[in-house]
Order: sequence, then C-alpha cells, then structure tokens
Amino acid sequence: MNEKLLVATAIEAALNGELAASEIEKLLETPKTSAHGDWAFPCFSLAKALRKAPQQIAQDIIANIDQTNFDDIQAVGPYLNFHLNKKQVGAATIDAILKEGGKYANTDEGANRNIVIDMSSPNIAKPFSIGHLRSTVIGDSISNLYKKQGYNTVKINHLGDWGKQFGLLTAAYRMWGDEAAVKADPIPELLKLYVRVNDEAKENPEIDQAGRDWFQRLEAGDPEAHAVWKWFRDESLEAFQKIYQALDVEFDSYNGEAFYNDKMDVVVDLLEEKHLLQESQGAQIVDLEQYKLNPALIKKSDGSTLYMTRDLAAVLYRKNTYNFDKCIYAVGAEQQIHFKQLKAVLKELGFDWADDIHHVPFGLVTKDGKKFSTRKGNIVKLEDTILEADRRALAQIDAKNPDLPNKEEVAHQVGTGAVKFFDLKSDRMNGYDFDLETMVSFEGETGPYVQYTYARINSILRKAGQVTPQAGYTPNDYSWELIKLLKGYPAVIERATRELEPSVIAKHAINLAQAFNKYYANVRILESDDELSSRLALIKAVATILEEDLRILGIKAPQEM
Ligand code: ARG
Repeated sequence: MNEKLLVATAIEAALNGELAASEIEKLLETPKTSAHGDWAFPCFSLAKALRKAPQQIAQDIIANIDQTNFDDIQAVGPYLNFHLNKKQVGAATIDAILKEGGKYANTDEGANRNIVIDMSSPNIAKPFSIGHLRSTVIGDSISNLYKKQGYNTVKINHLGDWGKQFGLLTAAYRMWGDEAAVKADPIPELLKLYVRVNDEAKENPEIDQAGRDWFQRLEAGDPEAHAVWKWFRDESLEAFQKIYQALDVEFDSYNGEAFYNDKMDVVVDLLEEKHLLQESQGAQIVDLEQYKLNPALIKKSDGSTLYMTRDLAAVLYRKNTYNFDKCIYAVGAEQQIHFKQLKAVLKELGFDWADDIHHVPFGLVTKDGKKFSTRKGNIVKLEDTILEADRRALAQIDAKNPDLPNKEEVAHQVGTGAVKFFDLKSDRMNGYDFDLETMVSFEGETGPYVQYTYARINSILRKAGQVTPQAGYTPNDYSWELIKLLKGYPAVIERATRELEPSVIAKHAINLAQAFNKYYANVRILESDDELSSRLALIKAVATILEEDLRILGIKAPQEM
C-alpha cells in the first residue's frame, strides 16, 4: 500500500468511516518542514460535517487511531502531523527498488496509447541551431518519460525541407553554385548561397521571381527542380546524422514538410467544405479573429503553400496514422503564435482532438549574453561544440583518473551528457547562457556531478565485495533524506510528464546526488557492523535511481570516471 493511503486508511478507521479514505487522501498535505512529519491532515475541513472544532477533531482522531505504522502522530492546532514508521517505509522502498531496478516507478497507464512527438526538425541547407539541439534533447526526454509509463511514442523529425527558400536556393545554385564546394562542406556552402540570394532578391525582383518559379516547379514535381532539392536534402541529412549520432538520439520518422506536398489538397478541400477559407489580397486565409489571433495563411496568391498548410496536413496525417493521444511539438517559444493558430484552425474544422495537440515551448540560448547567430557569418557548428565538450571532459578525467580504461568513451558520455544536462536542468521556458566551462564542471548542479556521484557509489559497492545489500535498519537523518527522495520517485515521474518538464527529473537527480554526498560525508558506509548490508542496500537503491534519472534525460551513467 502506498503510504499516503496508509495514512488515509488509519484516519478513516479512527473516524469510524465518517469520511472515505479516498476523500481523506485528497486532503492530505506535505508539510513544509520535515519536523512536521511526512503527511499533515488539516482537520478544519471536517469541522462543518462533524459539527466540532478542528482542534477537538484532531484530539479525537489521536485518541482513536492505530499507531502501528507511525513513529509519531502529533496534533498541532487544527493539524495532525504524521511521522511515518521510518524503518518500515525505508525497508519497503529500498526493497522495491532493489527488486525492480530501473523499472521502479514504471506504470502501464499508457498501454496501447500513442504519443507523437515532433522534435528536432532542422531546416535543410541551414545550420543545425542550438534551438534544434534543445528541441532534440527535450523531445527525447519527454519520449522517455512517456515510455516509462507504458505509452508508445513516435518521434518525428519534421524536417524543414520544403518552401519558397528551396526555390531561391536552387536559383542561387544555378547562378553561382560550385558542386565541389557544396560536396566538401555542404551546409556552410549552401548557407552562403542562401544569404547571398536573399540579399540580392531584395534589390532585384527578377531573382525573387526566379526563386518563386523554381519553387512552383518543385511543387509541380518538375524532375530538374526535384533533383537539386533531393541532393541538398541528402547532403544536409548526412550532416545532421552526425549530430544525432553524437547525441545518441534516434527518430521513428523523418517525414518532413516535403512529405506533405501531395497531402495538402485534403486540407484545402476540408477548409473549403466548411466555408472557412477567405480571400485576402489574393491569398487564401482562415480568419481567427474570435481567437484574437492573426489569420492563418493557407495559400499565397501564386497558389503556393505555406508552413501552416504543411503543419495542418501533417497533423491530420498523424491523427489518421497513429491515432495519437497527444501530439507534442517541442519547438522554441518564438513559434507560440503559429501553434496557437494551428490549434485554432483544427477547432474551426470541428476536430474534438484539437485539445490533444500541445506546443512545448522553450527559451532562448545565448552565448556570452548574445544571441547565437546562424544566418550571418560566424556560425557555431554544433558538432564542434559537442566535440569540445568531450575534449574538456577528457582533460578532467586525465587529471583525476588517468588510468581509467576506455577513457575516450567515458569522456564522450560525460561531455555530451554535460551539454544535455545543462539544457534540461532549468525550467524549459528559461533560456541559458551556453558556457562549456560551467557545463562540464564536476562541481555544481551539473551532469558530471551526478555521474560522478553515481560512479562513487559504484566504487563503494565494489569495495564492499561480497556483502549482500539487504534493506532493514532504522534510518538516521541523512539516510531518511535519501529514502524520501526515493519513495517520492513515482510522483516525480508523474509530475515531469504532466508538466512536460524534464527539468523535474534533472532537479531530482541533483537533489539525490547532493543528499547522497551529505550522507557519505557523515556516515561510515563500509564500517563492518550489523547494519552494513542495509547501508549498502540504501546506496545501491540510490545508484539505481540516479542512473534512471540520467537515462530519462538521455545521459549515460559510467561505472567509473
Ligand atoms: N523547421 C522548423 C524550424 O526550424 C521547426 C519545425 C517544427 N515542427 C513543426 N511541425 N512545425 O523552425
């Protein structure tokens, strides 16, 4: 039985069934400080029904209640504070974790249900930005959270591989392009062409027109336009794959915007059927005045489609293909309006599942306080940044543990893990400044700090050798802090998922690592007394959950570092 229910059941019995345990459970609170116990019951909520003063109710319950499962129950004014039987709770929690391992806190709530996650989604022929990195790691972690609760997830890389910019790029390539240069370093080379053609198109309407023409030819399936487009796409994808490999993230689908080229008529027909399309300056729009939003642009005056048209086609296709419970978009906060419009159009179309689509926005990353720039010149190549993180991790390992086997591999797990952890540790709407030095540090609230704590526990367990971990002693203040963090894990998973907020997991990892290090500083774990095996059980459980926290964040936990 979970301990909240344990408290509620005891109160129910003491009240002679006056109030059902399920109702009592809803009223239970977690006290602000541990001095007030593990659960508090506010008696004033019963005052009316029982026609008694809350203080009196508290006294009556205390007089009647079965104290077996508690170390102490105190009446403080209208509150009853419950101190759980630490020994019992501790043993049950640790036993469960040792038995279930990483599956502790798993549920089957999502059995046979699908969650679509639209994530990463970089644009072809453009650099993979830091925003795409955020989307990738946030989306991946959200997927892990859902899977832990039994859902099936579909991770979709909605590549930005369609649109007028490809027409412009094709025009630019035809005018100034150099095949060998593109092959040698595709993304910077294509970006150069893209920047130049955009600048010149502003001055020169003929170039702009050439871009439109090429895009029209592309949308119409012209083989020449298609061949150039496909080549750019293949080259870009190859470059992106390197980043995904370094990040150790996989996708279930790379159906990007181009995939919907032949699926947009359905959308336009549906909108027409429901009389939602209006003409405005030659373009086709859906009015969203009643949502206090600007109109959604569906077709331009030249008949070409837009980002919105493709997102509408995509979400209909996904609903039909995956019958999703939720369709989640891990996309920067700057696209908030776009996703509001998308949802509003679905509502206008009368789809009751419009509320199942969720934009999961996140804040901006800066470098030295300034915006990362991708369009003009000084582009930061993300692959290089990740390599640099790995190099710095290696330097630290060299200093601390030069004889470590497979150093390079561990350095990659630590370096790349550090970048991920830093990205995921704050509420996602908060941006952060990208500072490798801080990220890769073994101290502070970092990934390496959590990994290092995990490795430290494993080294203690190795030293203990043959002793079998076995739960069962009476916790002290330091170990009780750990046990609380362990027994609260199911609630942590639930909250992280409900709020679509991986930072809840990262914070749990930090708290658990810090609590362990406090324990380690104050308790002689390997002392050979009759509680040795239960201390080992406790730290083994801590290591198991630290590893699980990291796994959910997409980060490896090396045994040694
Ligand atoms: N390619 C877009 C960008 O880089 C992100 C796409 C997000 N997903 C979507 N379904 N709109 O800004």
